[in-house]
Amino acid sequence: MFYQQRGHLPLKKHTTFYREGSQLYREELTSTRGFSGIYSTKYHIHAPPQLMQVDSYQGAFVSTWEEAPLQPYHFDTNLTDLTQSDAVPMDTSLSKATQTKDAPTHSKGTIPRRDFLSARRIYLKNAYCQIGTAQITQNTDVFYKNAYAHELWFVHHGAGEYRSEYGRLTFQPGDYLLIPKGTLGQITFTQLEEAKLLMIESTEPFQIPKHFRNASGQLLEQAPYCERDFRTPELPLPVDQSGEFELVLKAGDRWFHYLLNHHPLDVVGWDGYLYPFTFNIRDYCPIVGKLHQPPPVHLVFHAQHLVVCNFVPRLFDFHPEAIPAPYFHSNVDSEEVLYYVDGNFMSRSGIQSGSMTLHPMGLPHGPQPGKTEASIGKKEVDEYAVMIDTFHPLQLTTQAQECSVKGYAHSWLEAP
Ligand SMILES: [Fe+2]
Repeated sequence: MFYQQRGHLPLKKHTTFYREGSQLYREELTSTRGFSGIYSTKYHIHAPPQLMQVDSYQGAFVSTWEEAPLQPYHFDTNLTDLTQSDAVPMDTSLSKATQTKDAPTHSKGTIPRRDFLSARRIYLKNAYCQIGTAQITQNTDVFYKNAYAHELWFVHHGAGEYRSEYGRLTFQPGDYLLIPKGTLGQITFTQLEEAKLLMIESTEPFQIPKHFRNASGQLLEQAPYCERDFRTPELPLPVDQSGEFELVLKAGDRWFHYLLNHHPLDVVGWDGYLYPFTFNIRDYCPIVGKLHQPPPVHLVFHAQHLVVCNFVPRLFDFHPEAIPAPYFHSNVDSEEVLYYVDGNFMSRSGIQSGSMTLHPMGLPHGPQPGKTEASIGKKEVDEYAVMIDTFHPLQLTTQAQECSVKGYAHSWLEAP
């Protein structure tokens, strides 16, 4: 992360900073690792902790699929119907727990109306992360904050704007949005027809790998991206508005609803190293080699308990006898989750855009029958995919069970 400064700031921290007359702006420090990690300092028109009301909230339903066998999985996340697990109301922007009784039913074959808050489906989780998707069909005015986790959203479909205390970030398909833990914001889609996010929560921050940076933090020449590829928020004029404003807060598997007495995007200036930003997968410059390169060359972000890699269109290996398809491998220390975005996926059959696969620890995986031979002599691949490798076992949820594609675990069987 790099130092950023927006809007109006006093010359020194923790000094008087007047709005008009004797009215002080309210200084708020958002820090990490106690006061020892990166942080930002914001200046608000209104004092931030003003809560009018606190309620529980019916958020994403997470129930563990306890009897799930340890085996490879294929999940079809392109859902067109609403199942029992989506026990949240869809036709209001506010889905408080008290309203869930009258949740509408939906017929198969239709995409139900779901906003950013009610659309989240979580398939895989452990103590350090949750992995899911959201197919969003309507916007909401409710603000959102994750209290316990950093969030990484990959925009598969849709475009729009994420407005937070730090300012405005526009997004488009292929963008990663990195939202630090504790960031208050609101997402609005301008293209809702197929809006879909891949959503990854991590208790530890998503970071740019150290080996991509020099001792001063600057990205190295051999890194697959550079500082110019990262987009940071533009701070518009603050909103000075009193009234009732809704905030939904996610805290692990618990959700809460708050009423604030002022519009929370009332920041006149901020500076620091902690803020949301975006990066587009198409700006990732892949590293290629004479022979098959291992997954770490596809690294894009890492956190303490997981890594995020992405596969992008690239030239294949240039040894005359190279096998471009990956060799079989065993994930002894990681669970491998792959989300297929676009293009032709060279090593797997029966996979489509929006498919998610899980290859757990303890079992080898690799190309399906015929894929190794088919790759020989190929010069390039046009796939886009996002891979999440977690270093602790993942639990499957009942939402994963509902979209699990039968037969995938046996799809490596070769014909006699
Ligand atoms: Fe793998």
